Amino acid sequence: TRVLVLNGPNLGRLGVREPEVYGSATHAELTASAQAWASELGLDVEVRQSDDESELVGWLHEAVDARAHVVLNPAAFTHYSYALRDAAAQVTKGGLLLVEVHLSNPYAREEFRHRSVIGGVATGTVAGFGPDSYRLALSAIASRLGG
Ligand code: DQA
Repeated sequence: TRVLVLNGPNLGRLGVREPEVYGSATHAELTASAQAWASELGLDVEVRQSDDESELVGWLHEAVDARAHVVLNPAAFTHYSYALRDAAAQVTKGGLLLVEVHLSNPYAREEFRHRSVIGGVATGTVAGFGPDSYRLALSAIASRLGG
């Protein structure tokens, strides 16, 4: 089972970016953890990061065409990108799973983070558990698929 783990803007700066909010693990370390969890769960995971909205939209189209499930941390795009929402909707309406993840708990933060335009078209959301949010999301995909 193929899963694309897609990380949005500024997540390439993990480790140096507001470690009190996002922790000390770098994006490379998060990628390595995701690969380890994936192999335990029997999933074939590829992790990508982009600061570019159109690149993320293209990767969601690719997921639909390749029949890959998605773990998506839309980062700041969570709160305002209707383009990403419309692309995410194609994934779930295409019968694939899409789990929205966040390292932090946006509901415990600024008001503008309380709204996700992605959540309504996601299969489900995991937020607030640091890198473990990704482990929980992958585990949810594996168990939903009966793996
Ligand atoms: C985030 C939360 C977003 O509000 C923020 O813009 C991010 C990261 C998280 O993983 O906690 O960049 O998606």
